[in-house]
Amino acid sequence: MIRNILLGAVALGLMSSASYAAAAAGDPAAGQQIFQARCAACHTVTPDGNPGFTGPNLRGVVGRKSGTGAGFPYSDAMKGAGITWDQEKIKAYLAGPPAMVPGGKMAFVGPTDPDDVNNVVAYLASLK
Ligand code: HEC
Repeated sequence: MIRNILLGAVALGLMSSASYAAAAAGDPAAGQQIFQARCAACHTVTPDGNPGFTGPNLRGVVGRKSGTGAGFPYSDAMKGAGITWDQEKIKAYLAGPPAMVPGGKMAFVGPTDPDDVNNVVAYLASLK
């Protein structure tokens, strides 16, 4: 009886670490939904860019240097930040844009659910 409970606890631990690993990798399809709900008010991901929109076009942002997307008037803070965006850095930025780029103009915090963050960043990484 006690042995079964212990085994169950071990199995549960394994299961939750497996789902954590899946979440860490991120799910681009789920991330697309998050993007529509949380980012698309200010950002597009169309291949032809989006001059005049509130935020820069984010297609190809993973691997790009901060503040260098075409046709967007970035803040001086973002232009001078010298960040090369990878998935971890975008996650850190979403957790607190002013903390990562003080004086930047992305007025936004979140999403805060780690799965949502992983998924939306995986979605951006999937766009070439
Ligand atoms: C309220 C509008 C708004 C929302 C919502 C928003 N952003 Fe932004 N974002 C901006 C603005 C404005 C900038 C440019 C910041 C600057 O120049 O300092 C920016 C910049 C960025 C950058 C840096 C781009 C580059 O080329 O250097 C990333 C990455 C980014 N946003 C990701 C996201 C993601 C992912 C979401 C959704 C989870 C999101 N943003 C939601 C307005 C927004």
